[in-house]
Amino acid sequence: MEHLVSPSLLAADFANLEREVTMINRSDADWLHIDVMDGVFVPNISFGFPVIKAVKKVSSKPLDVHLMIVDPDRYLTQFREAGANNLTVQYEACTHLNRTVTEIRNLEMKAGVALNPHTPVMLLKNILPYIDMVLIMTVNPGFGGQLFIKESYSKIIELRKMIDAGGYNVLIEVDGGIDTANASKLIESGVNVLVAGNSVFGSADPVGTIRKLKNLI
Ligand code: DX5
Ligand code: ZN
Repeated sequence: MEHLVSPSLLAADFANLEREVTMINRSDADWLHIDVMDGVFVPNISFGFPVIKAVKKVSSKPLDVHLMIVDPDRYLTQFREAGANNLTVQYEACTHLNRTVTEIRNLEMKAGVALNPHTPVMLLKNILPYIDMVLIMTVNPGFGGQLFIKESYSKIIELRKMIDAGGYNVLIEVDGGIDTANASKLIESGVNVLVAGNSVFGSADPVGTIRKLKNLI
């Protein structure tokens, strides 16, 4: 399948959010990635419902919301109401993951599970039939602009085998340190969705960079 590109709003100019979202609207981006951080699960705080609702009003792209928060069950309905189309929770933050992803699907969102760099993909074996996407964190979550962790390639290849062997309809998304230099190898390894923050918003021509990420091979 053709791969998707999901620029991460975390690297945008927050004083000019409407302009940034409008730029994404007219780009080749497939989704808009929204990072929610609570200062507990990760050592950083980003933004919450009022900002997501404001972005939803101007975005023509589906919102790909990535929760880096503890106890996400408390807020699933509110994220749906704020405009999330995909909702990804961290594996490490969910005690009853099956219940959480089932609830996300009941709320008519795509359910994603994110893995920290140290979490083995094997742990997903029994959840793959219940989800739409796995997000492999290719940096330690909490901040944009970090260096891509190279051990991620073998995790992606292993996960791709698991998904294909089981015949599951599950996308693989990568997030952290993705740019036009490593994107092709990631797609070859089995990735379906590229998240990119600084490499897009920090470039001189963000629309051109998104086009490059979209037309790699
Ligand atoms: C990191 C976030 C990422 C971040 C990626 O915790 O989950 O989505 O925005 O930023 P870059 O692409 O700059 O590494
Ligand atoms: Zn993210």
